Amino acid sequence: MEKTIGFIGAGKMAQAMIGGILKSKMVAADHIVASALTEKTVQFVHDTYKIKTTSNNKEVARIADILILAVKPELHSKVIKEIKNEFNPDGIVITIAAGISLQDLEKDFGYQVKAIRSMPNTPSLVGEGMIVICPNQFVDEQEISYVEGLLQTFGKTERLGEYLMDAVPAISGSSPAYIYLFIEAMADGGVRQGIPREKAYRLAAQAVLGAAKMVLETGIHPAALKDDVCTPGGATIEAIAALEKQQFRGTILSAMESCTERVKTLMSK
Ligand SMILES: NC(=O)c1ccc[n+]([C@@H]2O[C@H](COP(=O)([O-])OP(=O)(O)OC[C@H]3O[C@@H](n4cnc5c(N)ncnc54)[C@H](OP(=O)(O)O)[C@@H]3O)[C@@H](O)[C@H]2O)c1
Repeated sequence: MEKTIGFIGAGKMAQAMIGGILKSKMVAADHIVASALTEKTVQFVHDTYKIKTTSNNKEVARIADILILAVKPELHSKVIKEIKNEFNPDGIVITIAAGISLQDLEKDFGYQVKAIRSMPNTPSLVGEGMIVICPNQFVDEQEISYVEGLLQTFGKTERLGEYLMDAVPAISGSSPAYIYLFIEAMADGGVRQGIPREKAYRLAAQAVLGAAKMVLETGIHPAALKDDVCTPGGATIEAIAALEKQQFRGTILSAMESCTERVKTLMSK
């Protein structure tokens, strides 16, 4: 029997996942349901994805076999209190919220809920998401495989121990934002030299995509790939020198540290 996937919260991340699942056709639109706070989102998500939407979280919890909590971390406990009695205890709950632990979920549900802590990212919308998951002991291997199959309809999955989950937003959940900044900056640099704006975005984005594929598909160390581009005495090494003068790598490491520190305080907001 086809499972019903429910989303509580239908914002940017939930929509990226819904869009990805629908594109893959693994789950039909009539087996996806989502709730949101405002009528505007309820209507927009219904019109855009042709799925059932509602402002009633309990309704979603009642019909979902897999329930994805896609609200901000600070709303988590409140929402679970509202829906826990409606949710089938055999169902699987997945949180995508940064900083919410499996223990938080188990405590809020008040029983041995089958729970998966996950961290997706918005490239899920185009099938290139990265979704890191960490199931609790009550989810069996077959159930984990089903969930991985579902998540793989819109990206790659990895399992990590829970002690590492707070570190995942910085490298995967949030990091697309820094990549966009990087692409925007490179496009500006191209525009500065006279390349038309639209072409500059395409050139910069394709360079990022191509470089990422080189890392993933060749398995060659990123430093060796960088060396290959740098002709001795050439132009590329000048660019590298300028970046390093501004502490390019150190800046990224600091940014990621700030991100992780913030994740650790999100629940208490
Ligand atoms: N954005 C990302 O790249 C990303 C990546 C990984 C993980 N996450 C996680 O995903 C979660 C959602 O983030 P987001 O970026 O998608 O935020 P968002 O766009 O602000 O979406 C939040 C959604 O929650 C809904 N909502 C608010 N209060 C609610 C309630 N009481 N009951 C039901 N729905 C309610 C909102 O409804 P309205 O639209 O009607 O206001 C909105 O649809 C967060 O926990 C975040 O940590 C996000």
